[in-house]
Amino acid sequence: MFGNNKKLTTRAFAVVTGAGSGIGRAFAVELARRGGEVLCSDIDLESAQETTDSIKAAGGRAWALKCDVSVRSDMEALAEQADALLSEPVNLVINNAGVGVGGKNIGDISLEDWEWTMGINLWGVIHGCHVFAPRLKKLGRGGIINVASSASFAAAPLMGPYNVTKAGVLALSETLAAETAGTGVNVTVLCPTVVNTNIFTSGRIHGGIPPVLNRLIELTGVSADGVAKTTLNALDRGQLHVLPQFDARMIWRAKRFLPATYTRGAGLLSRLAAAKL
Ligand SMILES: NC(=O)c1ccc[n+]([C@@H]2O[C@H](COP(=O)([O-])OP(=O)(O)OC[C@H]3O[C@@H](n4cnc5c(N)ncnc54)[C@H](O)[C@@H]3O)[C@@H](O)[C@H]2O)c1
Repeated sequence: MFGNNKKLTTRAFAVVTGAGSGIGRAFAVELARRGGEVLCSDIDLESAQETTDSIKAAGGRAWALKCDVSVRSDMEALAEQADALLSEPVNLVINNAGVGVGGKNIGDISLEDWEWTMGINLWGVIHGCHVFAPRLKKLGRGGIINVASSASFAAAPLMGPYNVTKAGVLALSETLAAETAGTGVNVTVLCPTVVNTNIFTSGRIHGGIPPVLNRLIELTGVSADGVAKTTLNALDRGQLHVLPQFDARMIWRAKRFLPATYTRGAGLLSRLAAAKL
């Protein structure tokens, strides 16, 4: 537990990045269902518009905006639009936008893929925290949810750039939580394993989706809606880390208590999975 910021997610004035699909859309819809006003931003304006249309059709209040989180001026413009559109200052920011990359070892995956992933998954969240954290602290009440991944600690082979960006988001979130303790601003970092969204088809997964991943999607089977609700409730409780699945919690413990053994095991499992293909 960190601070307590009860029911912040009820009637929130929220900004969500990557709100046009998957987990971001689920966050936006759930916040609107809880009576909030939601600025749904995405690099793909059309998809953000679809999210706002569904919110409005259910009687909620939402706006769609184009924002590429990797571009600092886009994030600054998003904050200005939030001031202009929401009826009260933003008190909840969800840095969710992210892309998938994987399928090649470090050294084989291109530096262009590294830079693309770093720009969106890490710099996007840095931009969001840089622009919005001072506003929330000034307000004296609010929340920031950063969407990391269990990749932030799992060190799974063939996912180097993704792992590095998500480890950065975890460190950023924990640092921000320490810095905002006692200010009335809560920070929550979401670390799921697999959630069935478009990320596996829209990103740069070289060689296609491995069968083991499809199996994992079936087995761990949480929906984006469930993950969004769990995470919003965790923010209301002042909980810093959200590991919504059993396998995420197992990996967290193994990594923490047996780090070297865990890493060797992850490498072995990856080679076995590749050999079965
Ligand atoms: N799906 C999973 O298994 C899973 C697991 C762990 C973490 N995550 C994380 O959850 C977050 C949401 O992913 P998702 O699974 O809902 O994927 P998704 O592909 O369904 O949605 C991602 C959204 O982000 C948007 N986006 C991409 N680049 C952007 C940019 N530069 N600026 C703004 N928006 C951009 C896309 O247009 C899309 O609407 C990501 O940060 C992802 O890394 C997903």
